[in-house]
Amino acid sequence: MAQAAVEWRRFRLSTVEETAVAAGEGALAEAPKAAEGATAYIVREEALAAEASRLARILESGGVEVLGSTAGGGEPVKSLGWVERLWLSMLEAGVERSTTVYIMGGGALLDAAGFAASTFMRGLPTVNIPSTTLAAFDAAVGGKTGVNLVGKNMVGTFHNPRAVIVEPGIVAGQPGEGYRDGFAELVKHVALSGERELAASLLIQALDRRPGPLARLALWSLGYKMQVVARDPREGGLRRILNLGHTIGHALEAASLYTLSHGKSVSIGLAGELELSRRLAGLPRREAEEVLGMLSTIGLPLEPPPGLAREAAGLVGLDKKREGGGVIMPILERLGRPRLSRVPVETVSRLMVELWGGG
Ligand SMILES: NC(=O)c1ccc[n+]([C@@H]2O[C@H](COP(=O)([O-])OP(=O)(O)OC[C@H]3O[C@@H](n4cnc5c(N)ncnc54)[C@H](O)[C@@H]3O)[C@@H](O)[C@H]2O)c1
Repeated sequence: MAQAAVEWRRFRLSTVEETAVAAGEGALAEAPKAAEGATAYIVREEALAAEASRLARILESGGVEVLGSTAGGGEPVKSLGWVERLWLSMLEAGVERSTTVYIMGGGALLDAAGFAASTFMRGLPTVNIPSTTLAAFDAAVGGKTGVNLVGKNMVGTFHNPRAVIVEPGIVAGQPGEGYRDGFAELVKHVALSGERELAASLLIQALDRRPGPLARLALWSLGYKMQVVARDPREGGLRRILNLGHTIGHALEAASLYTLSHGKSVSIGLAGELELSRRLAGLPRREAEEVLGMLSTIGLPLEPPPGLAREAAGLVGLDKKREGGGVIMPILERLGRPRLSRVPVETVSRLMVELWGGG
């Protein structure tokens, strides 16, 4: 019997642009198919030297010449200095406009190298190979690239990857708590879509790092995000529903000076914003509890560490989503039924203090 094959899904963004997503054990072997021209450049996590060598061998044997590679990873790469060094390395390696840049990494490396590729020679095609759960469930698609400048993600572009290749063995190798933290974005997609069966049935196995369930969840999660992105590629409106959990999440992340991980911040943010949805839009308690139950199963927090909420309450909406005294944020009437709403900043901050600010 043949092994479960790698599954491909294609998402059209415009008449000329699409992102294809391949997921499953052995997906890396599909890499040459995603090349636009005859040459490639690889950007990879420091920790993934062996996997990147395998990628290079696969590309070469598929007729794609690998011109060079650069290693890096984590938040420090999201700087203009790092991007400039990458540009120079690509120049030196002889990268041309038709060279495809393969980026094997977590969300930070995908953001930074994606930005570098999107601006080098006015834009090179990219292929994302996520190496963290956050990237495999969320950041690998959607086309947002960028680096930090004073604030997080202040400089960036929209540049959709030609393809995303989810090789579950690579994601499963992510060490530490970050592996579980990335599941917060999957739960966000469950709440927004209302589709809880697949995630509920595969969650425990994926948490155990089993490749098949992990690949299926990634394909579903990236697919959900792409359906939203395809309807609003530049975040003019609808796409903002993907910010569920992030208004409160970003405030907590910033108040902790980024010591609270993005995933944990989003998990607590989801808990707070589901309560807001109950109050403002009548989200049934049972449905909110289903989502909270999923976060608890994963081992994600539903409350911030003591003392953080009061400080975070003062930072609500200080990011890009604040408009005219209110924050535009998604509110759920039911699971699977989000709508964008302008919520006064005070409503969100008061809720945070009420829920978590005692003592
Ligand atoms: N563009 C988007 O749509 C989007 C969406 C959400 C988040 N983000 C960005 O993603 C970033 C966070 O991404 P993240 O949570 O993936 O963390 P990360 O990319 O910072 O990776 C976490 C750490 O793990 C290392 N690492 C990554 N994969 C590994 C592996 N397989 N084995 C060993 N080590 C590995 C990294 O070098 C880093 O030190 C933030 O900068 C955030 O702004 C972007």
